[in-house]
Amino acid sequence: KKRVVAFISGGGSNMLALARATQAADYPAEIIAVISDRPDAGGLSKAQALGIPTFAFARRDFDSKDAHEAAILAELGRLSPDILCLAGYMRLLSGAFIQRYEGRILNIHPSLLPLFPGLHTHQRAIDAGMTEAGCTVHFVTEGMDEGPVVLQGTVPVLRDDTAETLSARVLRVEHLLYPQALLQLANGSVRMEDGRTVRPLSRAHPSGT
Ligand code: GAR
Repeated sequence: KKRVVAFISGGGSNMLALARATQAADYPAEIIAVISDRPDAGGLSKAQALGIPTFAFARRDFDSKDAHEAAILAELGRLSPDILCLAGYMRLLSGAFIQRYEGRILNIHPSLLPLFPGLHTHQRAIDAGMTEAGCTVHFVTEGMDEGPVVLQGTVPVLRDDTAETLSARVLRVEHLLYPQALLQLANGSVRMEDGRTVRPLSRAHPSGT
């Protein structure tokens, strides 16, 4: 099985969805550890309850972003993961960090990228009058929320939606989408090549159609 480390900053519901999906005997990956930049992240105790080792690296314990990342990279060196899954990790990784795990970092973002990168996505989608919203799992590249898309899921935006009701609807889809996307990366049916998503085994569209 591919060794996966999940990165969280908060409640960790996506991490939990990944952990549960990967427990299936025939799933090609397993969550071997959870790393948080917040020692108080609610997801840490959820991971521990499943017997998953957790590591917290508070940014304030380090003098610089470089030192913070160096500590995380050192732990990753010991864990030797194949894949990193950012699951509500609210910190931008440096270019050097991303290059170290190029093509092996996934992120989930609660919008239909390239629409609404960054924060407050649900309120922005409502304010823009969108009738459809959703979530995206993508490969992580240096630009924030810019990497090539692996999978997207959509939900309707309802007339009386608030950011809270919309985010709850999107989150339920996130929990289905992320395990599917990780499955595809872990079993080799998707990869990143030259900054693009490639699906080696998918059949080309018949010519002339
Ligand atoms: C999720 O909705 C995730 O898509 C979002 O944070 C939430 C984390 O929830 N991520 C981002 O906004 C990243 N820019 P969780 O901790 O319960 O998985």
